[in-house]
Amino acid sequence: MTAPSAPRHDAPAAPTADPKTDPKAFRSALGAFATGVTVITTRAPDGSFVGLTANSFNSVSLDPPMVLWSLAKKAHSRTAFEAADHWAVHVLAADQEALSNRFAKSGEDKFAGLELDATAQGVPLLRGCVARFHCKTSFQYEGGDHIIFVGEVTAFEREERAPLAFHAGKYALAMQKDPTLPAPRSARLAGSFSEDFLGYQLGRAHFQFYQRIREKTQAAGLTDEQWYVLSTLTVRDGVSAADVDAAISHSLERPSAPVLESLRAGGWLHSEADDAAGQGARFFLTPSGRDRALHLVAASKSLEADALARFGYADGAVLKSLLQKFIASTDPGLPDLWARE
Ligand SMILES: Cc1cc2nc3c(=O)[nH]c(=O)nc-3n(C[C@H](O)[C@H](O)[C@H](O)COP(=O)(O)O)c2cc1C
Repeated sequence: MTAPSAPRHDAPAAPTADPKTDPKAFRSALGAFATGVTVITTRAPDGSFVGLTANSFNSVSLDPPMVLWSLAKKAHSRTAFEAADHWAVHVLAADQEALSNRFAKSGEDKFAGLELDATAQGVPLLRGCVARFHCKTSFQYEGGDHIIFVGEVTAFEREERAPLAFHAGKYALAMQKDPTLPAPRSARLAGSFSEDFLGYQLGRAHFQFYQRIREKTQAAGLTDEQWYVLSTLTVRDGVSAADVDAAISHSLERPSAPVLESLRAGGWLHSEADDAAGQGARFFLTPSGRDRALHLVAASKSLEADALARFGYADGAVLKSLLQKFIASTDPGLPDLWARE
C-alpha cells in the first residue's frame, strides 16, 4: 500500500478552459486568488449612509496615493457611489466576519446600532478595523458588469490586528510565514518520522506548553492524570467514573475510578451514591477543591496568555482555529461536556 501524498507541483497543467462557456469554473478560478475583505462606505446625496462588502479592493499607486475597487452595476449602492466625491475603505479584522455579512446584504439599514466615526467630509467610518482609508474619487471606469472606482487616499488609520481573509468563496485567516524557520528535517534512520510528522508536532507542542502548567499542578500535589480528571470536572462535575472514562479515556492509561477515588481522598472531590440510575457514584468538586482547581485553571490561562504573547495573538487565533478544525475532523465521537452559549 502506498501512503497518500500531497499534490505534486510538477504534474501536467490542468486543461485550458474558456470563461465564457464555463463561467462557474471561471468564478471558482478567480476565487483561488486570496484577498482581504473590505467594507466601502459613503454618504448618499440625501445624507443617508451607504456601504457594501468588497474584496475587489487593491492598491494602485504610492505617489500619488491611490487605491481601486469595483462595484457590481446591479448593486443598490451604485447611484450613491457614482454621485460620491468621497468614500472610505475599511480593511476588516479577523473577528469582523459578522460585519462583513451585514454589509454583504442589500437593503436594510446596514449601519443600525454601529458605533461610527466620520471623515472630514462626513463619510461614515466603522470601528475595530485593521486599516481605514479616506478616499476622494479620482476616476470611474467601465469594467464589464462592474464599475471601477479609483480614489486618491487623503488620510488613513492603521491598527495592529489580524486581518480577515477570503479564499475560494469562504472566509479565511491569514498566517504569516516565518522565513527564518528551517525546513523540517528527516530522521537519521531512513523510513522513520520526519520533523513535520503531525503526531510529533502536536505532542511536542503539547508537552512544551504543558510543562509550565505541570510545575503548578505538581506544586499543588497533583499527578498528570489527577489534573486531567480534575480539570475535566471543572468543565462539568456531578459525573460518574464511566462519564469521565467516556470523555477522556484517550488521555489516561487506566480507568478513571482510582484517580477519582484518590482525588476524593485528597479532599478535592466528594461523591454521592447514585445507584438508582445504575451509574455508580457521582463526583462533585468540594468547595476547597473548586477553589484550588480554579486557581490552577487561572494560572494555566495566564501561562497561555504568556505563550500567545510570545507566539503572536494573530497567529494564535489561526492556530486555535486550525486545532479546533483538526479536533473536529479526528473526533471519534466523544461526549460533549462543554456548555453551549
Ligand atoms: C467577501 C465578499 C466580497 C464581495 N466583494 C464585492 C465587490 O468587490 N464588489 C461588489 O460589487 N460586490 C461585492 N460583494 C457583494 C456585495 O457585498 C453585495 O452584493 C451587497 O449586497 C451589495 O450591497 P448593495 O446592493 O446594498 O449595494 C462581496 C461580498 C462578499 C461576501
